[in-house]
Order: sequence, then structure tokens, then C-alpha cells
Amino acid sequence: MRWFYPRSDKQALTAFNGHDHTKMNPQNSPVSPILPGAWLGMVGGGQLGRMFCFAAQSMGYRVAVLDPDETSPAGAVADRHIRAVYDDRAALTELGRLCAAVSTEFENVPSASLEFLANSTFVSPAASCVAIAQDRVAEKRFIAESGVPVAPHVVIESPEALAALSDEKIAAVLPGILKTARLGYDGKGQIGVRNVDEVRTAYASLSGVACVLEKRMPLRFEVSVLIARGGDGKSAVFPLAQNTHVKGILAKTVVPAPDASAALVAQAQDAALTIAAKLGYVGVLCVEFFILEDGTLIANEMAPRPHNSGHYTVDACATSQFEQQVRAMTGMPLGDTRQHSPAAMLNLLGDVWFDGNKSRTPLWPEVAAMPAARLHLYGKEEARPGRKMGHINFTAATLEEARTAARDCARMLHITLD
Ligand SMILES: Nc1ncnc2c1ncn2[C@@H]1O[C@H](COP(=O)(O)OP(=O)(O)O)[C@@H](O)[C@H]1O
Ligand SMILES: [Mg+2]
Repeated sequence: MRWFYPRSDKQALTAFNGHDHTKMNPQNSPVSPILPGAWLGMVGGGQLGRMFCFAAQSMGYRVAVLDPDETSPAGAVADRHIRAVYDDRAALTELGRLCAAVSTEFENVPSASLEFLANSTFVSPAASCVAIAQDRVAEKRFIAESGVPVAPHVVIESPEALAALSDEKIAAVLPGILKTARLGYDGKGQIGVRNVDEVRTAYASLSGVACVLEKRMPLRFEVSVLIARGGDGKSAVFPLAQNTHVKGILAKTVVPAPDASAALVAQAQDAALTIAAKLGYVGVLCVEFFILEDGTLIANEMAPRPHNSGHYTVDACATSQFEQQVRAMTGMPLGDTRQHSPAAMLNLLGDVWFDGNKSRTPLWPEVAAMPAARLHLYGKEEARPGRKMGHINFTAATLEEARTAARDCARMLHITLD
């Protein structure tokens, strides 16, 4: 574990004043810790919100979830479920009145909703940070301005902008991936393109939305850095996670990253800390990186929340990423990020429930019989291919044992890892 201290620690935290936003310090964070017993709000009712509820509730907080879905994974376990869409002003007002601090688990929450909430409660992460992470154009610009390299890319804001781009400019980032600037996740909104004609055809199929055309990079492997930053500017960083994606969706995470040198770990962690500090970020942030064939590190994207690649922390670290978000948003001291067990995490997509077109029940008793395995299911009623239904964390005395258990389990559940 490495702890980082702020370069300048301006904020002297004084008395606590509940969620009276007039009593916030200059960074708009609570002036002293919000204590257990208080209500915390979560915009979004997915699995990340559900695991946030578990962490907050086990520390004695109460959680209100805002999500329109009657059967949302987080709504099912929250102390209160406000069933409304994410920009319903009356519902946001109710959430802001009830809760001493509010977070989001859903990357595409309208940033205007977070801004609105910030009038009545502390919001972590801030709307301005979420807005950057929601837009690949702004995100890449911000990361590059932080001094962290990103993949070569061109921005295509509109059909007119594409028409004005020369073939040479386009060819310079080919073969590439055309990615919608907004609303993409799990590889959605991405089209592989090999030549200029394919770029024009692919762009036409996206009905004129802003896109980034990014050069396809020769990846040796992928890693992510999960960090938390408090309102006082102190940060805590988790170990480097190594990720395997299949069809653009995270399939497996292994921690500590087996292929990374100590220098690379430090480089990635420093890059993430630099980005978070420049954002003035408060909360848990994940930055995804590519390690290229030549060993270069470049940033891919960031998520302003706990991340799928950090699920291992629940069973392998002193503090989980969800508890860390609770601590950051309540102004509590950040938790110890020490990893006590080597870990591997296997995602359970809806595909596991199917054998071709036939549905099947995964072999849960066999999973439960594995000493290394900890099963986490999100309580989603319907399994669909590609849908995140749960994950399994594997912990053991050595990384090799944890990885072997994950591999054996993947084979047993017919999970493809390449
Ligand atoms: N420029 C690239 N070069 C090579 N692989 C890429 C590139 N961009 C994305 N990928 C692959 O696709 C995955 C998903 O892309 P990403 O941009 O992270 O989108 P999402 O928001 O869907 O996670 C990455 O983790 C990586 O495996
Ligand atoms: Mg990604």
C-alpha cells in the first residue's frame, strides 16, 4: 500500500453542520465527518449501488437509492427506494433533503441532476468530474492535459466535421475504433474500422453523434488503478489490477498485476493520482490503462465511481472500494487499502445461464465447494447474454492458487477468457 498526502493541505476542517451546504469547506466537502446513523444517497440502482448499500449499512448509515426500476439490485436492499427517473426534480429534492451526502453509481447520470443536488447536499464525486468522465472527448483532453498520454485519436463532432477531415488525417489513426463520445460502456457504441471508407460508413450508422476515432493500439496487457481521494486532498491507492476483456467487457481481474514491474505500478498509480488531484476529485475513481507492446503506459478512460475491476477489494483488501466511497463522501478518514490476500475475480455474465439457446442453472453448489471462491450475485431477475449478473472473487495464499481456482471455475461454468 502507498499513501499519498496532498501537496497543499488548505482545508482546516472545523465543526460539522450536517448537510447545510453553506457550512462546507471551499471544496464543497463536509466540514467534519458525517457520522453513522445519517442517510446517504445513491443515484442509480445497479450492482455498484447495491454493494455500496451493503458497505454503508454495515457501517451504520442508512441509504436511499434513486432509480426508476421497481426491481433494481440496489433498490432491493436500500433502506429507502425512491422510484423516479434520474432527472425528476421532486425526487432529487427529496433525496437531497433526506441525505447528508449523495453519490452516483451510474456513469451516465445527467450531470445537471448532480449539480441540482449540490444545492442541498454534498455530492461526491462532483458533477464537474462526472461530466468529464461521461464524455470521451473531454476525458481524453483532460487526461492528456494532466501529462498522461492517451491513444492517438481524432474527434468527429458531426457529419460536417467528418466531411471536412482529410483522408490523411483519418488514415493516421487507422486501423482504429470509432467510439461514441457519450453513453458507451462494456464495449457498446464501438465499431472497429480498417480504412477510410469503413470510417465513413460506420460514422453514418451512428446517426451523427459526436465520436472519437481512436487508433487501435498493440496491447501487451491492460491494468486499472483504483484510488480514493478525500475532501482534505489525502489519497489512498489500491494495488494495480490486471484486466482481461472479452468482446469489450471485463472478464477477469488479477491482483496484484502479475505482468507489471514495480516501476510500472508506480507510474500507473502516480498517473491516476495526478488526474484525481487535477480534478479536485472527492470519492473513488478508477483509471484504466493500456500497456503497449513496447512497455509504454497510456490511459484509456476513467470511471468516477467504484469499478468492476475493484470488486476483488471486498474479499481481498482491508477496506473495500465501496466502503472507501462511503468514507470519502462522509469525510471519514480513508481506509487502509492493504491487500491481505492475492486475488482473482471472474465476472458472471448472463451467458453463463445459457447453453446455446437453452437456459441452464449454473453449478452454484460446485462453486460454493471451492475453498477459494466467494460468490456475489446481484439479484437480477433475468439473465441476458452480456448482462452483468454477478462475479466470483477467488482468494488464496498465493496468486497462482487464486488464478488456478479462477481458471478451473471458468472452465466449469463455460466462461470464455480469450
Ligand atoms: N484503442 C484501443 N486499442 C486497443 N484496444 C482497445 C482500444 N480501445 C478499446 N480497446 C479494448 O476495448 C475495451 C473497451 O474499451 P473502452 O474504451 O474501455 O470502452 P468501455 O467504455 O466500453 O469500457 C478496452 O478495455 C480494450 O480491451
Ligand atoms: Mg473501459
